[in-house]
Amino acid sequence: MSAETLQFESENRVADFISASDIIAAMSTALDLTEGQPAGHAARSCGIGMRLAQFVGLSIDDKAALFYALLLKDLGCSSNASKVSYLFGADDRTVKREFKTVNWQSLWSNVRYVASQVSPEGRTWDKLLRMVALAKHGQEGTKNLIKTRCERGATIARHLGFNERTAQAILDLDEHWNGKGHPLGKRGEEISMLGRILNISQTIEVFWRESGLKGAIDVVKQRSGTWFDPALCRAFVKNCRDAHWQQLWNAGDLLTDIVQLEPIQLRHPVGSDFLDRVAQGFSEVVDAKSPWTYKHSEGVATISVGIATALGWERERIVALRRAALLHDLGKLGISNRILDKPGKMTDEEFAIMKTHPRLTEEILQKVPAFSGLASVAGAHHERWDGRGYFRGIESSQLPLEARVLMVADIFEALTAARPYRDGMPQEKVLSILAKDRGTAVCAEAYSGLLQWIDGRTIENRIEVQLESLEKFACSNGVCT
Ligand SMILES: [Fe+2]
Ligand SMILES: [Fe+2]
Repeated sequence: MSAETLQFESENRVADFISASDIIAAMSTALDLTEGQPAGHAARSCGIGMRLAQFVGLSIDDKAALFYALLLKDLGCSSNASKVSYLFGADDRTVKREFKTVNWQSLWSNVRYVASQVSPEGRTWDKLLRMVALAKHGQEGTKNLIKTRCERGATIARHLGFNERTAQAILDLDEHWNGKGHPLGKRGEEISMLGRILNISQTIEVFWRESGLKGAIDVVKQRSGTWFDPALCRAFVKNCRDAHWQQLWNAGDLLTDIVQLEPIQLRHPVGSDFLDRVAQGFSEVVDAKSPWTYKHSEGVATISVGIATALGWERERIVALRRAALLHDLGKLGISNRILDKPGKMTDEEFAIMKTHPRLTEEILQKVPAFSGLASVAGAHHERWDGRGYFRGIESSQLPLEARVLMVADIFEALTAARPYRDGMPQEKVLSILAKDRGTAVCAEAYSGLLQWIDGRTIENRIEVQLESLEKFACSNGVCT
């Protein structure tokens, strides 16, 4: 156990020069997690795409729109994760990672891919049944999965405040030059140039990383005129041995290098409203990951703000807490939906994986300049008053009040909402449970703020009655000593 007290910085260093690109480049690593890609996939795709852009004569505004589209291309990826996991009976992150290398225009490649991914621990019979189900799902099913992902991604990009060119590029991410892509089957120049660059850039990144430069050149040549715009393919093949391209693989600090690729004329310090939009937008990505938690982050933020307001905090402190609450489960993007959506009790191994998500949250946020001050509090939402929580297992004296408020809000939202293995509990029952856990799991001050927020006077009386009945129940069952 660490003896260090966690810190919370409500100012979040906004006073320093921090541009939107600093923040979005760092947040893009959360999207890499959801796609099962290593951290840096989106950033390197951005580096590749921005270099390709030099050969097609984009305007400054188009380059700026492209820059953000490349970093945010996977904003919608969490929205089909649950369905992918269900259909394949497998870890959605593995299925998605492997999908990036498949030529899904080829029937044979598709069959091999599906056979290798379905129900990895299942018996032959189970695999066959799933393959039949996926075959029935067919191209139309694939199209719908991609449609959901692209539309959701474009919508969140708009919520973040990016323009239609960025949103359109994300919508066109999986359209192919020969019209056999999805979701609309656009052909050739019907596909936005920015969308064409996104498509080829992410493929180059994956093949270059997995098979070296030769692998990237081969896939670009093979898919020229089918998947990709031939002009972009020629530009890549002609220039890819240039030292600038190699730097992407040897960068000491990839994110810092990538941020330099945003057109300098458009770099401005961001304001508080942008930080709120980013926190809100990424909470939508997290909440879309599982149908069981589709409003969880938003709910935890509302409850946290309610508690903090009831406790009389100043506005700036509440604003920072709200961002931490919106982003607290960001690390769940790195957890398979096989675990998140599991209808029964988790195995010890699954629970151990689940318990990594607050640490992942903290690690991602620590790298985001304007959110690094929130990182440790956001990552402390499963700690307990008595030190028996996770992932640090530290006690209340080491947890700032912000973390203790977030813990109470998280438990309250989670217990009142339905989960795959139980119905949502009535509010009063949850309050009774929290009241019983004061001084063991739960901070009494945060609990008191919760009661005040929901106009606890009346409810509190009812809770006392319920607490008495709980104690009587325990005694009558021999639990009372
Ligand atoms: Fe959590
Ligand atoms: Fe949570």
